[in-house]
Amino acid sequence: MDFSGSHILSIDQFERSDIEKLFSVAEGLESYANKQKITKVLDGAILGNMFFEPSTRTRISFGASFNLLGGSVREITEAGSSSLAKGESLADTAQVLSGYSDIIVLRHPEEGSVQRFAESSRVPVINAGDGSNEHPSQALLDLYTIREEIKQKGKNIDGLKIALVGDLKYGRAVHSLCKIVSLYDDVEIKLISPPELKLPKSYTDLLITSNVSFSETENLEDGIKNVDIIYVTRVQEERFQSNQDAKKYKGLLSLNKEIYTANCEPNTVIMHPLPRDSRKDANELDSDLYGNPNLAIFRQADNGVIIRMALFALVLGVEGQIEKTAREVNWHVSRDL
Ligand code: CP
Repeated sequence: MDFSGSHILSIDQFERSDIEKLFSVAEGLESYANKQKITKVLDGAILGNMFFEPSTRTRISFGASFNLLGGSVREITEAGSSSLAKGESLADTAQVLSGYSDIIVLRHPEEGSVQRFAESSRVPVINAGDGSNEHPSQALLDLYTIREEIKQKGKNIDGLKIALVGDLKYGRAVHSLCKIVSLYDDVEIKLISPPELKLPKSYTDLLITSNVSFSETENLEDGIKNVDIIYVTRVQEERFQSNQDAKKYKGLLSLNKEIYTANCEPNTVIMHPLPRDSRKDANELDSDLYGNPNLAIFRQADNGVIIRMALFALVLGVEGQIEKTAREVNWHVSRDL
């Protein structure tokens, strides 16, 4: 793929070589993401950070990434505060916002909405989640995290064994993750969900055509045996007809220390795209796993910055110019707990 000037809408756009290129740019940005160095390569550029659904990680990390490259950020954080609430179309919104921004990040509750928006945008658009369809930048940071975590255990993505747990029907992070791991060889996936929340057929069809070996179960203890990664997800309550409907599935697949210790290899990595639902009726990933060195959820969230910096650098075509404006920082914040 030619990143420069492209919309980033789906993992369908990526080949392995594109992912390797993105990860290589990300590695080169480590000292900037870690605030050891400053670059102003995007000085003067404006990101339109448009979030028409709630977000903590994606919105703030996209914004922080743009700032770390020297650019400025303008935001909408709910549909009700934009003129969509007055009946303006997505197409008109895209025309207008692309006059004010050099690149747009969009999250929207409708499947396919980001694609429709991009068709009317005069600047590149990055999909930050469109309904239950896809969340491509999440899959990119997830794969980067998987690679980092299993590298320490002498493994690589080819041959990966991963368990996907929870709401596989509506979870857009899982959908993009299935697409991205399908690009690799000898991948095995355990799909663990209630029968009503199984991975949709279009994704299992993709796994079949990509020669990914997979099995489906509703039993957490069986599914998490003998895998490298357990990727837990939240019941996507906001996609159900009612909270009562969603409630039926909360707490059915809850991973805690006892279940992990009894069933997993000692090195099994635990991931979650977050937010995890920590309310008593859900608690899909128990806080009693705090302190387990294999709990990678916050390292995973941290990787959102470096991956999104790399995406901006490539899409805006400045990946070769980062060093030109670089300087050391003269401040330091400790992030030790
Ligand atoms: N993982 C993720 O998309 O988190 P947010 O909803 O907080 O952005």
